[in-house]
Amino acid sequence: MTRKPPVETLGEEDARQELAQLAQVLAKANTAYHGEDAPDLSDAEYDALKRRNAAIEAAFPHLKRADSPSDQVGAAPAEGFSKVTHSQRMLSLGNAFEDTDVRDFVEGIRRYLGLDAASALAFTAEPKIDGLSLSLRYEDGVLKQAATRGDGSVGENVTQNAMMIEDIPKRVDGAPGILEVRGEVYMDHADFEALNARQEARGDKTFANPRNAAAGSLRQLDATITRSRPLKFFAYAWGEISKPLGDSQFDALTRLAGMGFQTNPLTQLCASTDEMLEHYRAIEAQRATLGYDIDGVVYKVNDLALQGRLGFRSTTPRWAIAHKFPAELAWTRLEAIDIQVGRTGALSPVARLTPVTVGGVVVSNATLHNEDYIAGRGGDGQPIRGGNDIRVGDWVQVYRAGDVIPKIADVDLSKRPEIAQPFAFPTLCPECDSDAVREEGDAVRRCTGGLICPAQAVEKLKHFVSRAVFDIEGLGAKQVEQFYTDGWIREPADIFELEARFGSGLQQLKNREGWGEKSATNLFAAIRDKRTIPLKRVIFGFGIRHVGEQASDLLAKHYGTWDMMIAAVDAARGCEGPEWDDLLAIDGIGQVMARSLVSALSQEAERASIDRLIAHLEIEAAEVPQTDGSPVAGKTVVFTGSLERMTRAEAKATAEAMGAKVSGSVSGKTDIVVAGPGAGSKEKKARDLGLQILDEDQWLALIGRS
Ligand code: IVH
Repeated sequence: MTRKPPVETLGEEDARQELAQLAQVLAKANTAYHGEDAPDLSDAEYDALKRRNAAIEAAFPHLKRADSPSDQVGAAPAEGFSKVTHSQRMLSLGNAFEDTDVRDFVEGIRRYLGLDAASALAFTAEPKIDGLSLSLRYEDGVLKQAATRGDGSVGENVTQNAMMIEDIPKRVDGAPGILEVRGEVYMDHADFEALNARQEARGDKTFANPRNAAAGSLRQLDATITRSRPLKFFAYAWGEISKPLGDSQFDALTRLAGMGFQTNPLTQLCASTDEMLEHYRAIEAQRATLGYDIDGVVYKVNDLALQGRLGFRSTTPRWAIAHKFPAELAWTRLEAIDIQVGRTGALSPVARLTPVTVGGVVVSNATLHNEDYIAGRGGDGQPIRGGNDIRVGDWVQVYRAGDVIPKIADVDLSKRPEIAQPFAFPTLCPECDSDAVREEGDAVRRCTGGLICPAQAVEKLKHFVSRAVFDIEGLGAKQVEQFYTDGWIREPADIFELEARFGSGLQQLKNREGWGEKSATNLFAAIRDKRTIPLKRVIFGFGIRHVGEQASDLLAKHYGTWDMMIAAVDAARGCEGPEWDDLLAIDGIGQVMARSLVSALSQEAERASIDRLIAHLEIEAAEVPQTDGSPVAGKTVVFTGSLERMTRAEAKATAEAMGAKVSGSVSGKTDIVVAGPGAGSKEKKARDLGLQILDEDQWLALIGRS
């Protein structure tokens, strides 16, 4: 951000202009915060702009605008689109950055499927379009519904808008009765330039890049605006279909092209990893002349039967990966290093940069990771950047890859100002003055203040209300901060007591700046609405270190209910032994996560706070997948010995998908032991306990896979 002159020195015309500009920037930030067109403003920047706005208004009260940002609470402008629950989740993709990541991906698939190096395994390779994904539902060949991805489960109904896009067929011949086509909406470079020129001529806001322009144009409540914005669409996948489109990815795409969908002409079938990488380079070489933005190449297993066997991890398919292009780079000045305190107490250094355009986006902040990184040491203690440290005043190279937070890649010592000093990383928390310590083996210095640290408490609350967690409409990061400062909300449970605690709640809230009767009533309704909530969101909402969205989903699926999970956690607490087996047997939950979960839920203050929250909630049991009629639902299965018709990983994933729990050790709680050749002590123990023992064929017959 450029430095602004002090308010006292502003002339009236300057003040008027700056207020207009602030109204525009803050409105955009609000929209972006709640929508998909991702914001480029950090919370701190947003707050600084709001403070600046308030200061100018205080100095020039008569210039306060009708649409003043001071009067607005970050209300969700996405309101207005109805919600659509996807019949099949819209997934994202895992990422590969290096050739070795692609080789590992292919090897991992071979291992999972038990294919040796000589067996054929083909992949499709196609550009990864940098737009936003859309799901189109056709019933009997007629376009019935279009929905954005949203959080993957629930998106926004943008049917009217999709109707305006020429590339999207409104009717298709020869389609199965139910056909959901998925693909990417994007804007090409020429249309993007022309749109921005028109916007500028009209004094309307311009877009930072084609992706934002596409998102902003599709998510218009007034579909006639969408019509005036030239959007395009490439089909690359499908959701629910009443009849398969083919036996292979490639054939299915060809079939979609035959129905009138645009498919990417650079899609190619590759018989080996070398061919995949070769095609990646060919696409990369054409990137600048394609006329639209792509940010990598997507590889997908071609054989759809194999895709079916590989299945999904919680948010990504095992059979596909995005191979990203290398990051884009630019040089700029490091103006300051700020320390932010996160919800787990981590002190994160943030680089404040002289704004610079990196690959079409203006960057003014970048992460500096941790103190070793600033000092020129990597995670393994070895020198990075030739051991050069980073100092305020330095000329630094910034890079960004895709959506990730920009990073500092390098520093130019020849441009270092003489007065630049090594950065002294604080050993006290800048927010609460508690000691900030680094535990052995941890790269991160953490504030030891726990919940007394306002930054930790507020960050935890912000996480709690965020979109992937409780997603309470009208209660965003800004409101949480406001309520925390006022002492209205100190922990998640307080949110649910807000209405009762203030009498009807309404009177107090509606007297606050930025709140009216309607917004206050809506807020209380939105909070009440979220008292019923899926288990995985509750677990994720605690903001426990190492227990992210994916782990929360795995835990919820494994345990089904809060009571089951907390019983397992309490059993493991204070013990070292088989009490941990159940947790550790979950595919994707490792030692570090399990320990972090148990230790967080065992800490007295934290547990008490969680218990207070739980008392307000009606927790929805996790859906245990496809278990209707599954003969193994709820059963605990142990695989031992070698398997011949599938790998251990596939056996485990299949059993779990049918609602079984897979454990590594045999005990009285085990229901079925699947024993292959070479099974040893586990099979013996199973016999001693009189458990059901099956060979691989009997197991496959039981689950209907023989
Ligand atoms: S396949 C189950 N193919 O990338 C896999 N995705 O990072 C579904 N994307 O959400 C995605 N080009 O929005 C696929 N050729 C392509 C793509 C593509 C762009 C987007 C898509 C997805 C995101 C994942």
